[in-house]
Amino acid sequence: MDDLWQDAMDHAVAIARKSGQMVREALRDDRKVMMTKSSSIDLVTQTDQKVEQLIIKSVKEKFPTHRFIGEESVAAGEPCDLTDFPTWIIDPIDGTTNFVHAFPFVAVSIGFCVNKQCEFGVVYSCLQDQMFTARRGRGAFCNGEPLQVSTEEDISRSIIATEFGSNRETEAIDRMFSSLRKIVCIPVQGVRSAGSAAVNMCLVASGCVEAYYEIGIHVWDVAAGSLLVTEAGGVLMDVEGGVVDLMSRRIIAANNRTLAERIVKEIDSFSPTRDDAP
Ligand code: IPD
Repeated sequence: MDDLWQDAMDHAVAIARKSGQMVREALRDDRKVMMTKSSSIDLVTQTDQKVEQLIIKSVKEKFPTHRFIGEESVAAGEPCDLTDFPTWIIDPIDGTTNFVHAFPFVAVSIGFCVNKQCEFGVVYSCLQDQMFTARRGRGAFCNGEPLQVSTEEDISRSIIATEFGSNRETEAIDRMFSSLRKIVCIPVQGVRSAGSAAVNMCLVASGCVEAYYEIGIHVWDVAAGSLLVTEAGGVLMDVEGGVVDLMSRRIIAANNRTLAERIVKEIDSFSPTRDDAP
C-alpha cells in the first residue's frame, strides 16, 4: 500500500525525460506554430500534440484504467473533468511561446491525482535538464536533491514571479497591470517571468523566488507544480485568499502564508471561465 503510486511516478519521470528529448530535437528544426487556441497569441505547435500523444499512449499501455486531462486533448474537445479516478494531468510543453522563440524555459509537466488529490508531480525543465519531482508527503526534489522554499517573511526583500498569459482583453490587462503596479511599488526587490507556470512554481519550490501568482493559468499548467511547492514547504492560496481550486484558473504559490496573504491584498482579481465549465 505504501508504494501504491510509485510505479506510476517512475513511469511519469521516464516519459517526461523522453518527451524532453523530443522537445530538444524539435527546438533545433521544428518550432513552427500550427494553430492558435483561445486568442491569436495562444500558440500550438506540432510538438505540443506529438508529445501529449506520446505520453497518453505510453500511460494507457501501462495503466489502462487511468484517465487523462491533457492540454491539447481538451483543446480538441475532450472533457476537462477531475473525478476520483486516477487522473494524469498533462501539459506536454508548458511554455509553448518560449518554445516557438527558443527562449530557454520549456517544461513537460505531469501531475497525477487520485480522489482529486495530487499524489505526485513531475516537471522536466528540458533545456536545463532539471527533473523536478514531488510525491505527496515525501518532499520535493530537483535531480534527486531536496528542495526547500525561501524562509523570507518580508515581501520587500522578495522576488515575485507572475505572467500575463494569453488574455489580451482590455479589462483583464488593466487588472493585471494594476495588481503588478501595486506589487512592484510595495516595493518588492524584483519581478520575474519565466514564461512557464510550471517553471515559475519550481523556482518557488527551489527558494529562488518567494512567490508566483497568475490569473488565467489552466489546471495542466499548475497541477504538478502545486505539489512541488507544498512539498518544498510552501503554500497555495486563491488570489482572493482561501483555498486554491485548481480548476479556477487562479493561483498564488508562495514560500509562506505571510507572503501569500500580502499578495492577496494587492491583487485586483477577476474570474476567467473555469477549466471544468460545461
Ligand atoms: C502557459 C504558460 C505561461 C502562462 C500561461 C500558460 P502553455 O502555458 O505557463 O507562462 O502565462 O497562462 O497557459 O500554453 O505554454 O502550456
